[in-house]
Amino acid sequence: MGKCVWITGASSGLGLHTANALRQNGFTVVAGARSFAKPENCTDDRCLPLDVTSDESVSAFVKKALQMTGVPDVLIHAAGVLNLGACESYTDDEIRLVMETNFFGLTRMVRQVLPLMREKGKGKLVAFSSINGLLGIPFEGAYTASKHAIEGYLECLRMEVKPFGIEVMTVEPGDHRSGSSLYRRHGKQMTPQSPYWKAYQRGTAVIDHDEKNGSDPARLGRKVANALQKKRLPCRLCIAKWDQHMAVILHDVLPVRLFSVFIASYYSKKTKPDQSEKGTVL
Ligand SMILES: NC(=O)c1ccc[n+]([C@@H]2O[C@H](COP(=O)([O-])OP(=O)(O)OC[C@H]3O[C@@H](n4cnc5c(N)ncnc54)[C@H](OP(=O)(O)O)[C@@H]3O)[C@@H](O)[C@H]2O)c1
Repeated sequence: MGKCVWITGASSGLGLHTANALRQNGFTVVAGARSFAKPENCTDDRCLPLDVTSDESVSAFVKKALQMTGVPDVLIHAAGVLNLGACESYTDDEIRLVMETNFFGLTRMVRQVLPLMREKGKGKLVAFSSINGLLGIPFEGAYTASKHAIEGYLECLRMEVKPFGIEVMTVEPGDHRSGSSLYRRHGKQMTPQSPYWKAYQRGTAVIDHDEKNGSDPARLGRKVANALQKKRLPCRLCIAKWDQHMAVILHDVLPVRLFSVFIASYYSKKTKPDQSEKGTVL
């Protein structure tokens, strides 16, 4: 059996592409997602049902995965959901679902898997953040908060677990052509009655356009697989188009007010369908 990886959110998008790239590179992959509760969604017998918002489901996944492979060499948390909406308009439930999946999903997996890796004396922990873990954009407030939480948490965790032989990598993708619209919900209160409606429509049209014209998800999968085969795991893997890298740099060097004007104007521009093949800023 090759090196063993357990990966959450592996039924679609970047998680699926990463799982496939790892399989192609000889890793043994145990894939977790809610849709693997249905056998017809399982591509091999190492697909297990997993809901990262539930302690019981995480425990059941860990128990079954342990029987299959023993303690994993790598844990990857790729499960994630996005809810588009104005910060003012999010309901608690909407914010909670995003935090429960993206952030608490990670902390649940860590609580169950890290003790096993510590006992083994080695392991690699990888979690999907986002460019939104490094900067904010309009109408992705809940998602951006969850990804900033992941960034902060992993920065602390990296220092704490190094003495136990455990390495931590944060994956920070820019826009990729992978996000399923199933996971990109619109806030309940984002209706024509909302005072944010016009800005919201323009902003989400830009977001949609940029995702549709985003980077190749298979390439991201290969990059994660390559990083996991390096002698030393990179701390961060920011995989984005050059203009998104530039936005991160500007975020760090420009005065906050100026950066906000720059980003807000980008998300309030009108998108033209015929511009679809051009590069994007975010
Ligand atoms: N696509 C992008 O452009 C982009 C950019 C930056 C960061 N990211 C991050 O990359 C990761 C993958 O995103 P994506 O857009 O490629 O994926 P996606 O196609 O939207 O798929 C999301 C995955 O998460 C799983 N998931 C959702 N809720 C879950 C839960 N409660 N328990 C277990 N699994 C759950 C889904 O599986 P089930 O429904 O079967 O459970 C699915 O496999 C996310 O963390 C996302 O934030 C994506």
